[in-house]
Amino acid sequence: MAEVQIRHYQEEDHEEVKEVFTLGMSEHIPPSCMHVLKQPLVQMFLGCVFCALLTSSKSILLPVLAITLLLAAGRQSVNYIFTKYIQVCLEKDLNHIQQTYLDPPLACFWVAESQGRVVGTVACLPAETDQNFLELKRMAVKRTHRGQGIAKALCRTVADFAFERGFRGVLLYTSVVQTDAQKLYEHMGYQKLREFSVPEAIAKLTNFTLIEYRLVLKQHHN
Ligand SMILES: CC(C)(COP(=O)(O)OP(=O)(O)OC[C@H]1O[C@@H](n2cnc3c(N)ncnc32)[C@H](O)[C@@H]1OP(=O)(O)O)[C@@H](O)C(=O)NCCC(=O)NCCS
Repeated sequence: MAEVQIRHYQEEDHEEVKEVFTLGMSEHIPPSCMHVLKQPLVQMFLGCVFCALLTSSKSILLPVLAITLLLAAGRQSVNYIFTKYIQVCLEKDLNHIQQTYLDPPLACFWVAESQGRVVGTVACLPAETDQNFLELKRMAVKRTHRGQGIAKALCRTVADFAFERGFRGVLLYTSVVQTDAQKLYEHMGYQKLREFSVPEAIAKLTNFTLIEYRLVLKQHHN
């Protein structure tokens, strides 16, 4: 991890932070589409549409066209859901990083900087569901800088911060399609606590689950 420095966020990092986060999230669109296509319910639906149109029209063209349109509509829907999620994150905290993460004493936002550019981000704040835990958020590393241990260093930074402030541990949420992130957290000693569906009907239908991970710190000051 040569010449990469982990430091606190500064106001001039804002645009680069947004870019690293947005690109990191957008890359989950293709795997999410694949995840949806692998669901038996979706495959059954597409199969039924295909067979029904083939039988009624006696032509291969109409069912092929219909399936193509359905796949394109599905891709657009996944795209829309991710764009919406990114927008919500920007409005919720990424457009107010100073107020959300740097003003409160028990929260923080760090960037990984390489050659004057932001190449990674991570943040934390007290977890809403358990006041003994900090929640790790906004973990992302630029594609060009992956596999160099930057995310591991960002994870350690959050764990040290939690330890110094007497938290029992760190928790976080990731999704079923974020397999690199799952490997990272498991590598860093996080334990999978539970896997659950988000309330939206579309997420339930497509089995798009979230995973909660927890890292219990060896010693704590409570
Ligand atoms: C997940 C992510 C942050 C990892 O960043 P990174 O800097 O490449 O990770 P590191 O180099 O520190 O790797 C840490 C460990 O994670 C695991 N890992 C990370 N990427 C992996 C991959 N593509 N394949 C297998 N294991 C991987 C490995 O165990 C690795 O340790 P090792 O190299 O000693 O085996 C990065 O892929 C990313 O930004 N993804 C998009 C955004 C995202 O999903 N964020 C998580 C939000 S919850």
